[in-house]
Amino acid sequence: MIDTPGLLACRMCSRSIRSAPMELLPCFFLLLLIGTTTVVASSEPAYPGYGPDDDAEPTCGVKEEAAAVPVPERREEFDGGRILDISHYYREDMPAFESAEGTPGFLRLARSMRNGSDIANFSELRLTAHSGTHVDAPGHVFEHYYDAGFDVDTLDLAVLNGPALLVDVPRNSNITADVLESLHIPKGVRRVLFRTLNTDRKLMWKKEFDTSYVGFMEDGAQWLIDNTDIQLVGVDYLSVGAYEECIPAHLVFLEKREVILVEALNLDHVTAGIYTLHCLPLRLRGAEGSPARCILIK
Ligand SMILES: *[C@@H]1O[C@H](CO)[C@@H](O)[C@H](O)[C@H]1NC(C)=O
Ligand SMILES: *[C@@H]1O[C@H](CO)[C@@H](O)[C@H](O)[C@H]1NC(C)=O
Ligand SMILES: *[C@@H]1O[C@H](CO)[C@@H](O)[C@H](O)[C@H]1NC(C)=O
Repeated sequence: MIDTPGLLACRMCSRSIRSAPMELLPCFFLLLLIGTTTVVASSEPAYPGYGPDDDAEPTCGVKEEAAAVPVPERREEFDGGRILDISHYYREDMPAFESAEGTPGFLRLARSMRNGSDIANFSELRLTAHSGTHVDAPGHVFEHYYDAGFDVDTLDLAVLNGPALLVDVPRNSNITADVLESLHIPKGVRRVLFRTLNTDRKLMWKKEFDTSYVGFMEDGAQWLIDNTDIQLVGVDYLSVGAYEECIPAHLVFLEKREVILVEALNLDHVTAGIYTLHCLPLRLRGAEGSPARCILIK
């Protein structure tokens, strides 16, 4: 069971409202409690600058009628284009590494109101830790790091958040040492998102995994480590390493735990330049990868 105490209380409450008066007792106490906290809140705001929330409804309240069903808005940009979402939304036909199937059944309604649950709807996720826009931790390719606990919960938020450069990679090559040299990324730049032919080919929008995607060759990864201050590398397909050198490239990046890898970014609608990047993986202890929400701020 996934019940939280709050929901249990709510269930008790909604049931008792509908049924025998004897059962009203627990609900009565709950409402009393809520009443008490409301009184406290109205005399002493919990946060300076914020008054009491007059619209707050008790969690146990029974909403009588819903207004006309609103249509949700789907957005890639927020606040007039100041905030750009560079994460892919999860969907069944989102490609997965070395799979032709996409991401089927990633979201399942485990308990639903239509199916007899009288409380709420609860969905369950079934995903690899490297699904969609995600980060890799050192444990992804190094057994000793995996065993030592270098999971996504150990990744540095100061690296995952801060100024970032979005660059366009020449479209006729994988990311080699020569290509990197030609990009003239200034010293001191710590985060770079590499947009490639993958974006032009809309590879993240094709369900079937495509081995011909552009990524780092081993010599490109090594050149980056040896010649730049980059600590975060972002790419626009499922792996930072080109398919034929996928593991060697990962090994170079993660060997000294110097670089955080962010993969499968959605760079369709952004222009090259400098932004503030915010990338927040889930705190999955023990996991060598995690889905992440990544945004750019202009
Ligand atoms: C729960 O899901 C059902 C579909 O099974 C839907 O009709 C209903 O509106 C949902 N209820 C809530 C509270 O989201
Ligand atoms: C509802 O329950 C039936 C029978 O157990 C099941 O086949 C169906 O998939 C369930 N639907 C949802 C939305 O969970
Ligand atoms: C990049 O490398 C892959 C193999 O890993 C290859 O199929 C693809 O053609 C290369 N792309 C370019 C633009 O050279």
